[in-house]
Amino acid sequence: MKTSAVFSAALSLLSSLSLVSAASSSSESSSSTILPSTFKPAPVFKNTNLVHIISVEKNFVKENINAVIENVAKTPQNAYYLPFTSDQISRLGGVEVKDRKDSSAPPFVAEVVEFDKESDVQYLRIQLAKPLAPGAQQTIGITYYLLKAYSPLPATMKQEETQFLTYSFSAYAPSVYNTLKQKTEVKFPSSNFPDYTKLPGTGDITEFPQKQGSKLTYGPFGEVAAGSVQPITVRFEFNKPVTHVARLERDVEVSHWGGNVAFEERYELYHRGANLSSLFNRVKWQQSQYYQPNTYALKELKFPLRVGSADAYYTDVIGNVSTSRFRSNKREALLEIKPRYPLFGGWKYPFTIGWNSDAKNFVRTTPAGGYVLSVPFLEGPKQIEGVEYEQVELRVILPEGAENVKYHTSIPSQSITSANVEIHKTFLDTIGRTALIIKARNLVDDFRDRDLVVSYEVPLAASLRKPLVIFVSTLAVFVAVWAVGTLDLNFASSKKK
Ligand SMILES: *[C@@H]1O[C@H](CO)[C@@H](O)[C@H](O)[C@H]1NC(C)=O
Ligand SMILES: *[C@@H]1O[C@H](CO)[C@@H](O)[C@H](O)[C@H]1NC(C)=O
Repeated sequence: MKTSAVFSAALSLLSSLSLVSAASSSSESSSSTILPSTFKPAPVFKNTNLVHIISVEKNFVKENINAVIENVAKTPQNAYYLPFTSDQISRLGGVEVKDRKDSSAPPFVAEVVEFDKESDVQYLRIQLAKPLAPGAQQTIGITYYLLKAYSPLPATMKQEETQFLTYSFSAYAPSVYNTLKQKTEVKFPSSNFPDYTKLPGTGDITEFPQKQGSKLTYGPFGEVAAGSVQPITVRFEFNKPVTHVARLERDVEVSHWGGNVAFEERYELYHRGANLSSLFNRVKWQQSQYYQPNTYALKELKFPLRVGSADAYYTDVIGNVSTSRFRSNKREALLEIKPRYPLFGGWKYPFTIGWNSDAKNFVRTTPAGGYVLSVPFLEGPKQIEGVEYEQVELRVILPEGAENVKYHTSIPSQSITSANVEIHKTFLDTIGRTALIIKARNLVDDFRDRDLVVSYEVPLAASLRKPLVIFVSTLAVFVAVWAVGTLDLNFASSKKK
C-alpha cells in the first residue's frame, strides 16, 4: 500500500516539471550572480518579533529562527539576508525556510550568496515567494544545522568518566536588520548543564537566562541594532558518542537484467568527543559494561533498512566483522553492527556495509515505457544521539545505455553541491553504465527519510545488449577452450615425437 502510494507520488512528480535534469543542474547553481566584494545587505527590513531556538540535544546543532519581518523600505522587497561567519558557512547544512502562515507553500529558495570569499561575514539569501509590499509583514521560519559544533570540556578524560560538551553562540539572533523584540531558547539533552553565561535581566527578570527543566531562555530583549552580538557559552552533559561521518560514499546499483538493486556504503567515521587521557583498558571496559553500561564510547550502530533487504555484509580494514546482526522479515530489516572495539573521542573507524534488494521494491515502469527509481537519499545509522555527515557522494548506477536521466530529491537544495551523469564501466559492459552522481554536504540523520526519485529510459537495443554480450562472450570462451585444447593436443603430440 505504502510503496504504491510512494510510486504514484513519484509518477505525479514526473509529470510535473519539478524533476531536475541531472546534467543541467550543476550549471544552474554556478550561474547564480556573483556580488561585488563590498556587498552588504541594505537595511530594508526590521524583525518586529523573533524567537531563536537552539537545540543541542543531538551531536549536531539544530537552530530555528522564527521571525515576523516587516518591509521598512519604500519599494517591494523579496530577498531577506541572514549573516553567518565564514567558519559557520563551511559547517552549515540542511537549510529550509518556510512561510509560517502557510504550511502548504513550498519552502523558499535559500542559498549562500557568492561574494568576497575572504570576508569573515557571509550571507544566506532567502528568496520570498512574493515580493513583500512596503510596510507589510510576513512570518518566516528558518531551520538549519551546524556540524562540528561542540568542544568537549574537559578535552581528555578517563574511559569511565562522563562527557561534557560546550557550545558558543550569541544571545542575540544573527541579523543584518534591527530587531524590536526577541528571545533565545536553548534545549539540552538533559537537565544537567552545570555552566552557562549569565546576563543582567530586564523588566521583572533580574537575571538571564531562566532555567526550566532541560531548557534555558535568554530574553525577551528589547530593541537590538543590526549586527549586535552577545557571546554565550553553555556546558552540558552529553554522555553519548559524537558521531561524525567525514565522508560517506553510497552506491545504488540497479540491474534490470538481474532484477536486483545492490547497495553499498563506505563510511569514514570519527568520534569527535573527548579523547582518552590514558590507554584504553579492555578489562575495565568489560567490567563497566555490567555495572555502568552508560558510556560516551560508540559501541554499536543500527541501520533500519527497507523491508525486503537481504544478504547484508559488514567489513572493515581487517575484513568481515562477525559481530553484526541482521534481521530481515516481512515487517522490518535491521542491520546492527558492533565495531571490533569501542570507539572513543579522536578515534577514526572506516567501514563498509552492503545489502541487496529485489528491484521491484524500488523500480517501476511508467506507462510511456520509461523507469522510475525511488530510493532513500541516506540510509545511514539511526542513533538517538544523532549522526552528522560532512561529505556525501551518492552514485546511482543505472543499466547500460540508460538515458534521459532526471532526478528529484527533497534534500534541501542548499546541501546539494553537484549532480552529474557519467559513464561507469564494469566487467562485461560494452558501452558502460550510466551513473548519476550527486554530491551533498553537511547533512544529518534527520534527513534519513528523504527520497531520491530518478527517472530514466533504456532504449530497446541497449537493454538487449547485456544478454547478447553474455551469450557472445560465453561462446568466445567455448571457442577459446576448444582452441587451447586443440593446441595442447598438438603440443602433446609434437612432444611425443
Ligand atoms: C565474508 O562474509 C561473506 C558473507 O557473510 C562471505 O560470503 C565471504 O566469503 C566472507 N569473506 C571472508 C574473507 O571471510
Ligand atoms: C584528540 O585526538 C586527536 C586524534 O588523535 C588529536 O588530533 C587531537 O589533537 C586530540 N585532542 C586533544 C585535546 O588531545
